[in-house]
Amino acid sequence: MDHFHYRNGQLMAENVPLSQIAAKVGTPVYIYSTATLKRHLRIFSEAFEGLDALVCFAVKANSNQAVLRTLAREGAGADVVSLGELKRALQAGIPADKIVFAGVGKTRDEMAAALTAGIKQFNAESEAELETLNEVAGKLGKIAPVSVRVNPDVDAKTHAKISTGKSENKFGIAWQKAEAVYHRIGELANLRAVGVDLHIGSQLTDLTPFKEAFERVVGLVRELREKGHNIQHIDLGGGLGIPYDPTAETPPPPTAYGAMIREVMGDMDCSIILEPGRLIAGNAGLLLTEMLYEKQGENRTFYILDAAMNDLSRPAMYDAFHAIVPVAEPVENASTLKADFVGPVCESSDVFAKERPTTPMKAGDLVAIKSAGAYGAVMASTYNSRPLVPEVLVDGDRFAVIRKRQSLEELLALDTIPSWLSDD
Ligand code: LLP
Repeated sequence: MDHFHYRNGQLMAENVPLSQIAAKVGTPVYIYSTATLKRHLRIFSEAFEGLDALVCFAVKANSNQAVLRTLAREGAGADVVSLGELKRALQAGIPADKIVFAGVGKTRDEMAAALTAGIKQFNAESEAELETLNEVAGKLGKIAPVSVRVNPDVDAKTHAKISTGKSENKFGIAWQKAEAVYHRIGELANLRAVGVDLHIGSQLTDLTPFKEAFERVVGLVRELREKGHNIQHIDLGGGLGIPYDPTAETPPPPTAYGAMIREVMGDMDCSIILEPGRLIAGNAGLLLTEMLYEKQGENRTFYILDAAMNDLSRPAMYDAFHAIVPVAEPVENASTLKADFVGPVCESSDVFAKERPTTPMKAGDLVAIKSAGAYGAVMASTYNSRPLVPEVLVDGDRFAVIRKRQSLEELLALDTIPSWLSDD
């Protein structure tokens, strides 16, 4: 459930009409709802009540510091994958000891910064990384807490581009090698193995692959403990899906996910770490855009919006479904037609929806592209020299710009002309 709804014929974010935000900030603009962010975090966390569980929001899903601070105030930790994300999380007020650091290509600088900050753990993805981390920690006189990300080789049955737990994916250390790797960690003076980590993919709408993977990891933890490794926590990653299209997808609720985890964990006496991203932020945000033109093709109607694939790339990249609704509530029994919602970018893939049933819209109408709070603004680019769009956070009846619209001057100023091309 989210807090975007029609009231008096107008789509609102909590108590703020979206048209009011458009008038003040312009379009396109990302809009997030505080109440929805908090609600999703609360519902997710409640599914683990009674367990020793730390919820680390996957910052890659939405890294705006105002969003992170909102979640930090509710007790969330962070899962980060770069120095930039680490800095954002710390600056937003997430305590270092609630931050885990993942990623297959951590640099020495990133390792040093995370060690100095005192993060909870590194989720290590290769033997080479462990050797480097040992060196970096040694130089700083620190002991690095590590979990090895194991690749459980299960099929997450999600989109191929967001599946990570199969042996052909670049992530983690092969399942069968895990024990030898933990043995090696034992030999490295500046590392301490504290846990085991996995993440099998994103937007999973079925619990079966999770269960299969988690059972494997629990078995591994038992073996590692028998070999004398003091494994204290299991990081189960993120990946629980959300309903983008409520008529087509019914992902399991967090309560069912939590119940399955309780069952699999049994009496492991382990704390758990969870890394939800999409589930917290996805349906807490939308992309507000204005329709620029209607165009009649041979046998199609095109609704041309002022937002494009550079602002929200998920449909172009993953053929992802996003609901698209008018800000002015359609009248009851309004007629419907099928339209292609497209952006102005010069690519055929700049399409948000093809042949989508909709009520008629016209130039100047405000249109909301829903479920855009996760992997939306963070994946935006300036392709076609389109400046990055602003982000707005709504809280009850107030709203604030939490990232201003990039100006064309700022965008152009990023380039420099070398001396030999200079006019003076
Ligand atoms: N933990 C790790 C190690 C991850 O790699 C990810 C996502 C998460 C947690 C959070 O997963 P979530 O709960 O959000 O599913 N851009 C794609 C999604 C890429 C996900 C990458 N990793 C999309 O727009 O669908």
